[in-house]
Amino acid sequence: MIAGNMSNQEITKVQELIYTTRVDLVMAPDVIVIDPDMTMSQVKELMRNKRISGAPVVNERRVIGIVTMSDVIRSMEQGKLDSPVVDVMTREVRTVPMDAMVSDVVNNLGRRGFSRLPVVDHDGNLLGIVTTGTLIRSLLLQLDKSFQKNEAEKLYTYRASHIFHDISSDDTSLTLRYFVNERDFDNAGKASSLIKRSLQRLVVRPQIVRRVGVAVYEAEMNLVIHTDIGGEITVEVRKDRVNISAVDHGPGIEDLKQVLQPGFSTAPEWIRDMGFGAGMGLANIKRVSDVMKLTSAPGYWTKLELVFNFGLDTLEPKAELQKSLTRSSQ
Ligand SMILES: Nc1ncnc2c1ncn2[C@@H]1O[C@H](COP(=O)(O)OP(=O)(O)OP(=O)(O)O)[C@@H](O)[C@H]1O
Ligand SMILES: [Mg+2]
Repeated sequence: MIAGNMSNQEITKVQELIYTTRVDLVMAPDVIVIDPDMTMSQVKELMRNKRISGAPVVNERRVIGIVTMSDVIRSMEQGKLDSPVVDVMTREVRTVPMDAMVSDVVNNLGRRGFSRLPVVDHDGNLLGIVTTGTLIRSLLLQLDKSFQKNEAEKLYTYRASHIFHDISSDDTSLTLRYFVNERDFDNAGKASSLIKRSLQRLVVRPQIVRRVGVAVYEAEMNLVIHTDIGGEITVEVRKDRVNISAVDHGPGIEDLKQVLQPGFSTAPEWIRDMGFGAGMGLANIKRVSDVMKLTSAPGYWTKLELVFNFGLDTLEPKAELQKSLTRSSQ
């Protein structure tokens, strides 16, 4: 039964709050107090004006007594409205220390007609007051907060990890596409960090996200550094793997074997001065990806295709990968 279930949950949450919330969080801090010099008729006026049904009597911040509406009524019946409040007030006041838990208050408030409890610091000075009203208000507020947080979390988790399970088709994929401009060093690295974030939200395992991040960063930098008119990075996320391609329209690569050798680079001096051009990009990509395919028509285009499998047997990044991770420093 849904209704029964829900109220059970709420009670559990309230109980949890009651046992974990400190009294000074649920008290009203601006307490209306009664001065010991006041007469009962002044107290009656105060209660009427402030719309309260009781207040502590306070002498130099210390609680010395408490007066409630029934005390006022009794004074009226006995014609003692001119009596000083100290003659009428209840002298044995039950107070709660500020670091008590709400659960202590709940026990006391219910019992023996106590409807308000002054909260005191360790020296017995008045800090605030707890009534059923202040208690309910703050508990409701906290319940509301935790409810909203729960809902937001549920939605987020749903969006992230259930996409592939919930869409029932034979083949579902999600495609992200980014354009990278030649020589655009200001935005270099943006595509790879956006891709990393998207994969993180899809709850792809961190090792895989890191490996994809390294590979896409290197591919992105190659488009920035080596192409005539930039190119396009496409990330296709599937149930079991990520397919990535980086395609550009020239200048193309003459000798594919040569460029794959670690340390080979055609990067000009000014690029090397910027810290690129060590000739390690493609070697890093090969190391971190499960499948790498580089094709080109010299003078026309270059295409880099990568596959990252989500298989559980994926290894942790190796030492070399750690180096390139530091280098791409994301
Ligand atoms: N998209 C591309 N178009 C044309 N040539 C490319 C492209 N990508 C790579 N190359 C060639 O391959 C070489 C090796 O690339 P690699 O990424 O391994 O090293 P690098 O970019 O020169 O230096 P590093 O990546 O270490 O900064 C490049 O110097 C360049 O000549
Ligand atoms: Mg490179």
